[in-house]
Amino acid sequence: SPLRDRFATKGLLYGAAVSHRSLSSDLPFANRVAAECAILVPESELKWKALRPTPDRFSFAASDWLVNFARSQGLLMRGHTLVWHEALPKWFATKVDSRNAEQLLQQHIATVVGRYAGKIHSWDVVNEAVHPDDGRTDGLRQWPWLQFLGPDYIETAFRAAHEADPQAMLAYNDHHLEYDTKDQEARRTAVLKLLERLKSRGTPIHALGIQAHLRGDADRFNAKKLKTFMRDVASLGLKIMITEMDVTDQKLPKNIDTRDRIVAGSYEDYLNVALEEPAVIAVLTWGLSDRYTWLESQKPRKDRAPVRPLPLDAKLKRKLAWNAIARAADSA
Ligand code: G3I
Repeated sequence: SPLRDRFATKGLLYGAAVSHRSLSSDLPFANRVAAECAILVPESELKWKALRPTPDRFSFAASDWLVNFARSQGLLMRGHTLVWHEALPKWFATKVDSRNAEQLLQQHIATVVGRYAGKIHSWDVVNEAVHPDDGRTDGLRQWPWLQFLGPDYIETAFRAAHEADPQAMLAYNDHHLEYDTKDQEARRTAVLKLLERLKSRGTPIHALGIQAHLRGDADRFNAKKLKTFMRDVASLGLKIMITEMDVTDQKLPKNIDTRDRIVAGSYEDYLNVALEEPAVIAVLTWGLSDRYTWLESQKPRKDRAPVRPLPLDAKLKRKLAWNAIARAADSA
């Protein structure tokens, strides 16, 4: 049976990131998505760059199409993302200043979240706002919203989203939270501090999204650290979603069986830990099939062999990674 059913048996959601381009042009792929997934998330269509071609115009064609696709197939939909330092339109750098920042942020969130109110399971309200390398004591990333609005821009964003859609689950989403490195330890600490602060101020935040972009060649995955971190998050009264899981085989040997085995092992090790935590409610992979993955263009292999980071191969066949995810769900 498909992943959605195996997860549903345990009261969990399985889903994947999709794009308007792939779903609307590739029927066999769209059919596999509808069969395996219970929840979808647009890979780029809800980012500022996609929605805001000019400062005073919104462009909703692609995101509307995706929201309608999900509804027509009876699938849930996530929103990603309202506040992120990447995927901003070019005009952002010159048109945003301390005088209009608050209004611009409020208006963006009211318009986008309001448009889909009642149709979105959960929003990644703020994405990757923690960046300990920037040297602030609170670990927050130095970037325009922080510069213009101070650290409270995060709380402002959550309040605006809650007002526009009181039913949606609101999440803070971040990456690099599972490995046993100094950098990721600092990130876990800063994320926890941020979540604690938001909760203590009564901010409407309901979940942490853990992206889980993993490296098949990394031996730094630390089950104990991840487990403790998830417990700490859960003890704040927050749910947890694994929001963008994939395992890059960029640096693994060329042999496909070897690569697939290592990738599958990473999925299984990780999910065995994650699905033990009762606060975890959903697992989404960042794509479903190797036919469409950001890693192909952004982290290609030196030998030019196509990358294989996802549950289905480029021919839409289930891989060892699919089996590993299924097994982890079965034993959850
Ligand atoms: O929209 C243009 C299109 O008009 C043009 O024809 C095409 C040509 O390359 O580019 C299109 O934009 C691309 C966009 O994806 C939509 O496909 C951008 O170049 C490309 O940079 C962009 O990459 C996305 C990236 O976020 C930045 O938005 C990736 O697909 C997407 O997988 C990635 O996702 C992020 C999550 O949002 C946050 N966590 C990390 C994750 C991976 O980086």
